[in-house]
Amino acid sequence: MSEQDTIESVRIKFRTDSKHVENDPEKYESLKIKYLGRKGLIADLFSNIPNKSIEERPKYGKDLNKLKNEIASFFGNNKMRSIENRADTLDSSLPGPKFKIGNEHPLQKTLDEIKNIFKNIGFSIAYGPEIDDDFHNFSALNFPDEHPARDMQDTFFIEKDIVLRTHTSNVQVHLMEEKEPPLRYIVPGRVYRNESISFKSYCLFHQIEGLYVDKNVSFADHKAILEFFVKQMFGSSTKMRFRPSFFPFTEPSAEVDIWSEKRSQWLEILGSGMVDPEVFKSVNIDENIWSGFAFGLGVERICMLKYGIDDIRLLYQGDIRFLEQFK
Ligand code: PHE
Repeated sequence: MSEQDTIESVRIKFRTDSKHVENDPEKYESLKIKYLGRKGLIADLFSNIPNKSIEERPKYGKDLNKLKNEIASFFGNNKMRSIENRADTLDSSLPGPKFKIGNEHPLQKTLDEIKNIFKNIGFSIAYGPEIDDDFHNFSALNFPDEHPARDMQDTFFIEKDIVLRTHTSNVQVHLMEEKEPPLRYIVPGRVYRNESISFKSYCLFHQIEGLYVDKNVSFADHKAILEFFVKQMFGSSTKMRFRPSFFPFTEPSAEVDIWSEKRSQWLEILGSGMVDPEVFKSVNIDENIWSGFAFGLGVERICMLKYGIDDIRLLYQGDIRFLEQFK
């Protein structure tokens, strides 16, 4: 700064300088630094205070503060302008970035499809707890104490008698405890098993339990309903078979397989059977009056068959490249 710079001369200089900056953000910034910066003209004027006589100082200080405020408010008021100027460089007629629209997860699709098939023939939907006690997951379903399914290998225990349910069959027990027959329910839900993870098994998966209890329900009813389901789900020409099986809570029991042309082999999709009288006893339903059947569908299994997915882990990785194929 030249020695002669005074408050008034800085004010006049600023008036001229500030006329030329409005459209240029760079000039605007350097003007701000020139006047208000740490080594700017205002700071220079402040550093002059010690050269003033004691008498001059109060007025000088007051005038200088006034100038500083004038200049600062110029920059304050012009902030908006400088942002607007930047907006001039935007072409608002250009198309914006495209939003990616998501789609339903294949498991959700499968689940909804299964639910609809059963809703159409008079089943209601119920839900039950994922954390349950030994009674509902095992004992009431006629699992003997030493049954291998209770083994630490298969079941995630939370406490001694509290487990992550290993199947949705626990809800059969809840439904029969809470409601009077006739009962006609499907129960979708997550189940957990302590299995090693591979292309065909995962530590959690989904099942849909079915429970049908009424007077005079026969094995033929059970077959008819499941056959109807398979034909609806996979098409009327699907080859299927009932294969004798065993579950502690159904007697007789059957598993349903469907034929896969692609793999030339039978693939199991569900377990089922007539409700075992022992189960009715444990929930105080008179087995001489009521009979019924139950089934448990593996949702992942059905999903994988339907969409030709060969690794269950794909359903749990959230990989967009995989999921996008189900649009
Ligand atoms: N809960 C059995 C399972 O997880 C399936 C099943 C359900 C079998 C109902 C019979 C009746 O394998």
